[in-house]
Amino acid sequence: MISFQSKLPKTGTNIFSVMSALAQQADAINLSQGFPDFECSPELVSLVNQAMQQGHNQYAPMTGLLSLREAIAAKTQELYGASYHPDNEITVTAGGTQAIFTAICATIHPNDEVIIFEPAYDCYAPAIQLMGGVVKRMELEPPDYRINWTMVRRLISSHTKMVILNSPHNPTATVLQEEDIRELISLTHKTDILILSDEVYEHIIFDGQPHRSMARYPELAERSLIVASFGKLFHITGWKVGYCMAPAWLMNEFRKIHQFNVFSVNTPMQYALADFLQVKEAYLGLADFYQQKRDYFRSGLESSRFELLPCAGAYFQSVKFNHISEDNDLLFAKTLIDRVGVAAVPNSAFYSKKTDFGILRFCFAKKQETLTKAVEQLLKV
Ligand SMILES: Cc1ncc(COP(=O)(O)O)c(C=O)c1O
Repeated sequence: MISFQSKLPKTGTNIFSVMSALAQQADAINLSQGFPDFECSPELVSLVNQAMQQGHNQYAPMTGLLSLREAIAAKTQELYGASYHPDNEITVTAGGTQAIFTAICATIHPNDEVIIFEPAYDCYAPAIQLMGGVVKRMELEPPDYRINWTMVRRLISSHTKMVILNSPHNPTATVLQEEDIRELISLTHKTDILILSDEVYEHIIFDGQPHRSMARYPELAERSLIVASFGKLFHITGWKVGYCMAPAWLMNEFRKIHQFNVFSVNTPMQYALADFLQVKEAYLGLADFYQQKRDYFRSGLESSRFELLPCAGAYFQSVKFNHISEDNDLLFAKTLIDRVGVAAVPNSAFYSKKTDFGILRFCFAKKQETLTKAVEQLLKV
């Protein structure tokens, strides 16, 4: 018998895979995993095709294709008034996940403390732990999931190295407000604390609210690694292309790791994305596109027994069910698949202590017909 010590002994299969597998077995409508069930732009597909035909099939530069980094820099300048130099402040990554892992790997030393807010996307904590870092968790509570900055100050110590933020937020669909930004500026002022800002849903933000990217605020941008994902932007989650932006000194460290964990990202996709970014409507229209889906889904569920939580961004609608059933949220989510044929994610999965507020998360990045069918079924609860 080979003796072996797991590096992540408590980690199992993630909840998205579990719920998706159950949905598949039961032939249920899958609103659990966060990906669109509709096609991306055919133009984008033909641009990839063209790039392949033109022979762009070998390694891309380690930092990403220059034309793509230039397009990202131009978009960031135009939207957030921030200047990131394509040469040394932007790197193309294999999706947001790799950018997050690389950012943590490049900055966190053993015993460094990292503050995260739960419910949290599942890849932050394991990456911190793998680097020997210490996860300092703060639980946020429904219905508004606002950050209590006084409590955050209490978590800060001389070992605090980083704060991880995610806006628009998965799973709660909240977005950072101006007062959060003010607090963050005052909290980090004259400290060495870094910010890892997961902004993969930057363009999916509703009701005319601005996206408060760290890039907009020089005091925060100077200490931030900002992560973005083309998967979310152009309905291509399976392509796994994203990017990271940071000040040159920090990006230099990021690239030291990036070159050894992926080296470079698939070339034809980068050619296509560089061209497609010139079509501004493709990303500027995303908020309206998803707002219609949000409104359609919410209005369908209005007469249901679920209580709808606010949804200000990203493509998730949370619902409260604990007045309907006393089951825990995992059990209720499984029953929902069996009884009405709709799969959701139980929100306790986003808390390390499995804190259960009786809430499920539905993904509404789906075709109208999928949403119609899901609503029909959910009204039977
Ligand atoms: C909050 C958040 N961050 C990061 C990611 C990962 O993005 P990518 O699919 O580009 O790796 C996701 C994907 O669902 C997400 O929801």
